Amino acid sequence: MKKTYYITTPIYYPSGKLHLGHCYTTVYCDSVARYKRMQGYDVRYLTGTDEHGQKIADVAEKLGMTPKSFVDGHVREIKDLWYLLNINYDYYIRTTDKKHTEAVSKIFDKLYAQGDIYKSSYEGLYCTPCESFWTDTQAVGGKCPDCGREVKLAKEESYFFRLSKYQERIERLLTETDYLQPASRVNEMVNNFVKPGLTDLAVSRSTLKWGIPVSFDSGHVIYVWIDALSNYVSALGYTSEYDADYKKFWPADLHVTAKEIVRFHAIVWPAILMALGEPLPKKLFGHGWLLFSGDKMSKSQGNVLDPFILIDRYGADGAYTSEIMLTKINNDLVNDLGNLLSRTTAMTEQYFKGKIPKPADPTADDAALRALASALPKKIETAMDELQTAKALDEIFALIAAANKYIDVTMPWKLNKDGDSVRLGAVLYNLLEVLRYAAVTLSAFIPETAGKIFAKLGISADNDKLVTLASLKKFGALKTGRVRKGAAIFNRLNVEDELKALEKIAVEISAKAEAEQASEKNKLPEGVISIDDFFKVQLRIGKVLDCVPVPKSEKLLKLTVADGEGTARVIVSGIAKYYTPEEITGKDIVFAANLKPVKLCGIESNGMILCADSADGVTLIRPERATAAGSEVR
Ligand code: ME8
Repeated sequence: MKKTYYITTPIYYPSGKLHLGHCYTTVYCDSVARYKRMQGYDVRYLTGTDEHGQKIADVAEKLGMTPKSFVDGHVREIKDLWYLLNINYDYYIRTTDKKHTEAVSKIFDKLYAQGDIYKSSYEGLYCTPCESFWTDTQAVGGKCPDCGREVKLAKEESYFFRLSKYQERIERLLTETDYLQPASRVNEMVNNFVKPGLTDLAVSRSTLKWGIPVSFDSGHVIYVWIDALSNYVSALGYTSEYDADYKKFWPADLHVTAKEIVRFHAIVWPAILMALGEPLPKKLFGHGWLLFSGDKMSKSQGNVLDPFILIDRYGADGAYTSEIMLTKINNDLVNDLGNLLSRTTAMTEQYFKGKIPKPADPTADDAALRALASALPKKIETAMDELQTAKALDEIFALIAAANKYIDVTMPWKLNKDGDSVRLGAVLYNLLEVLRYAAVTLSAFIPETAGKIFAKLGISADNDKLVTLASLKKFGALKTGRVRKGAAIFNRLNVEDELKALEKIAVEISAKAEAEQASEKNKLPEGVISIDDFFKVQLRIGKVLDCVPVPKSEKLLKLTVADGEGTARVIVSGIAKYYTPEEITGKDIVFAANLKPVKLCGIESNGMILCADSADGVTLIRPERATAAGSEVR
C-alpha cells in the first residue's frame, strides 16, 4: 500500500470574497500536496468553508437571504477561484454538510457524556465580529487582539470544554515535540496561553441560531471552534460508518494556517482530540501574513486585492505585491525561464531540425551544470521537508540562471559557425535536459507552465515517465523527441503600465464600493420615496376639448385633451359615474403625462386624469386659477 499524506488548509469563512491571503495558504498547500503526489504518496488534500456563525447570519439577513443560500453563492465563487488557480484539492468540506453536522453533534455528545463538556455561565469581554471572548489581559485597551475592534462585557449561559484539564499534555506537545512549526511560534503559544493557565472554553451560544444545535439542549447551538476544527476529521467520515478514509488518512500529516488561528490549532484542537482519545495530527505550520502596505490583508481592512482580477491579468502562476510581483514575473519567468526555453528550443530547431541531439563526454562547464541539476531533487526534498516552498523555488531558479550563463559561455551559435556539431549537440542536449529538470520540479508549483515546457520538449505531461521525480535520478534520461519553439510562454509586462492599470482598477473598485455604501446609507424606509422618484411622474395641466362616453362601458369616458404640445391627447378615464361629458368639456384638469399608453375598451389612453376620493365618489383636481395647457404641475 502507498504511504498516505493528509494535508489541510483552514476552512475559510464564506462571509465575503476571499482575497490573496486565502490564496496564499491554499496555493502553498497545493504545492506541498502536488510534491507529495510526485513523491508517490497517496495524498488527501482538504479545503473547505466554515459556514456557521453570527457574522454570516447577519450579512445574509441584511441581504434578505437565508444563511444557507448566501453561503451557497460564496462557495460557488470560492470553488471557481480554486479552479482558476489550478488548486488540485481532493475533498471540499462544508460545515453545513450533513456528514459534518452529524459528526460534530456526536463529538459534542460524547464529550458531554464523559464530562469533558459541562454547562455553566460565562462573563467576559466579547468581540462580536470575531465571536470571541477575551480576558482583560488579552483585550488590551478594551480592543479585540485579533481585529482591533472594541470588546464589550457580556454574560451568557454556555457549555464549556474542559481545556484546563489538558494543560500539561498540551505543554508537553508544544515543548517536547516538533508539532508546531516554525519553532518560533512555540514560545508565543506557551508564554501567552499555556503558562498563564489554560481556561475552559465556551463552546456553545444561546443567542445564536445559525449553527449546529446541541442535541440535548434546544436552547444552545455549538459554536465556532468545535464545529470548525472537527472538519478535519468529519471530512474523512469520522464517527460515521463510512470511516474508511478516517482509518486511512488520520492523523493528518500537516495542518496549515496563518498565525492568528495557530492558538486554536496548537492548543484547542489537540485537546479535543486528546479528550476523544484520537491520535494527534503530526504537524501544524503557522505561516505569517501576507501584508499590504504593512498591514494584514483582510476583508475588514478594505485593502483586499481581488484574486480574480490578478489571475485574469497575470495567470495563476504568480505570487503577490504589485511591483514585486510584476518585476518577479519579468525577471524569473520572462527573463530567466522564458529566455532559456526560447533560446534552447530555437537553436534545437535551427541547428537540429528539432531533433534532440546526442550527449557527449562532458567538459568542465558541462559537468558543473549537470552536477547542479543532479543535486536539485535532493535540495528540493530537503526544502519541502522543512515546508520551505520558497526555498525550493529558489533552488530551481538558481539552476535556470546557471543554464542561461552556460549558453553565454559555450556560445552555441559560434560552435555552429565553426561546424563543431558534436559539441553543439552536447551543449544543446544539456540545456534541454536541464529544462526538463526544471519543468519536473516546477510542476509542484506552476503546473500550467511546467506542462507548456514539457509540450515544447515533446514530452506528454500526462503519463510520460520523463515527468516523474524518479526520472531525475540520473542526468540524461531525455532521449528521443521532437522539440518545438512555438510561441513564447510568457510575455514581458510593462511594469509602469501595469501599475497604472492596477491603480485604475483599484480606484474603480473603491469608487464602486463607496457608491454602494452610500446607497446603503441612503436607503429609504419602506414606503418612502425620494424627490427624484416623485419627479419621475410628469404632471401637467390639460384642457378638455371634447368628452364622449365609451360605448358599452358604464365607467369610462373618452376625453380629448389639449396638452400644450400642439396635439390632442386621448385619455380614457373611469369617471362616468361621477361626471357627465358636458360637465367636463372645456374644463382644465391635471393629468399624468408620461404613463405607458394602455388600451381600455379598444381605445388607447395616453395618460391619467387626477381625481380625489370625495364623499360622493370622486372629484376632479383642477387648477385654482386659469392655467395654460401643458403647464407643469410640481
Ligand atoms: O479563520 N495572509 O477563516 P478565515 C496570509 N474559519 N494568510 C491569510 C491572510 C493574510 N493576510 N488572510 C487570511 C477562519 N489568510 C476560520 C478558520 S479552521 C478550522 C477555521 C488565510 O476566512 C490564512 O490561512 O478568516 C488564515 O489562517 C485563514 O485565511 C483565515 O481564514
